[in-house]
Amino acid sequence: MTTREQSPATDKEVTAQQGTKSDSGEIRCRDIFKWFGTSLIIESLDLDIAPKEFVCVVGPSGCGKTTLLRMIAGLTDIDNGTIEIGGTRVDDPLPTVAVVFQQFGLFPWKTVLKNVALPLRAAGIKKDEALQRAREAIELVGLKDSDTKYPSQLSGGMKQRAGLARALAIRPEVILLDEPFAAVDAQTREILQEELLNLWGRHKQTAVFITHSIDEAITLADRVVVMGARPGRIVKEIPIPIERPRTVASVRRNPLYAPLREEIWDLLRTPDSTAKGQ
Ligand SMILES: Nc1ncnc2c1ncn2[C@@H]1O[C@H](COP(=O)(O)OP(=O)(O)OP(=O)(O)O)[C@@H](O)[C@H]1O
Ligand SMILES: [Mg+2]
Repeated sequence: MTTREQSPATDKEVTAQQGTKSDSGEIRCRDIFKWFGTSLIIESLDLDIAPKEFVCVVGPSGCGKTTLLRMIAGLTDIDNGTIEIGGTRVDDPLPTVAVVFQQFGLFPWKTVLKNVALPLRAAGIKKDEALQRAREAIELVGLKDSDTKYPSQLSGGMKQRAGLARALAIRPEVILLDEPFAAVDAQTREILQEELLNLWGRHKQTAVFITHSIDEAITLADRVVVMGARPGRIVKEIPIPIERPRTVASVRRNPLYAPLREEIWDLLRTPDSTAKGQ
């Protein structure tokens, strides 16, 4: 028997972890509405993300962050409005888009190498090339010596690296990450943030990263999108003008860090006091 943590839940989620090439990683969300039953979950949401931009989304629990990410991924239907990625309307998962979930989505009966190669094989890439690309991605995330291990033999941080390797192996133009580091300890989390900064600096994709950590959002993002709840909407978009390359320490030392942190905290505490764009 498998658990939600151990394996992707649906065929669509497996497809969403595939991905290949496309023209552009631009994301455009226009007038998005989402209902679950009679509850309005997301109301009239507009969001534009430039190619190779790193956007972090923060907001209170239940405000619709995961729902928004799943709609961008083509995993959840949009009730009104449109989402386009690289000019292509999202109705189903696009092959240019990879998703990393908080629960690593690794198959427990497959080695790291086979887990990472799986979406490539599913996309029709020949076995030798799939394994080669999987090895490269595993090396990128620092798991080279663990490629023959099974998920149960990995720490939380290593599982998350394997999940990231699987997303990167397909060389996506857009990578969507839903609280990918939430399940690891604080120290590992900072190490993973640093590794992601490094990786992303070298192989830039458009990234949408959901987090509950304001520190993490400022550390990683070009722009932080703050969402409010009931119904979910964008309260404010805050550019993070901290130069790159960044490290966790260099961001914390930056004089912009404390005021940005305070601004985002204030918005999360009193989201209704600020309208989008003010
Ligand atoms: N499949 C579903 N069916 C019905 N309601 C749902 C479904 N998925 C999400 N919801 C509801 O939609 C709202 C937004 O959920 P969502 O998971 O997007 O929030 P979130 O911002 O990601 O929260 P968290 O920070 O806790 O992960 C919640 O009220 C949730 O209960
Ligand atoms: Mg969520």
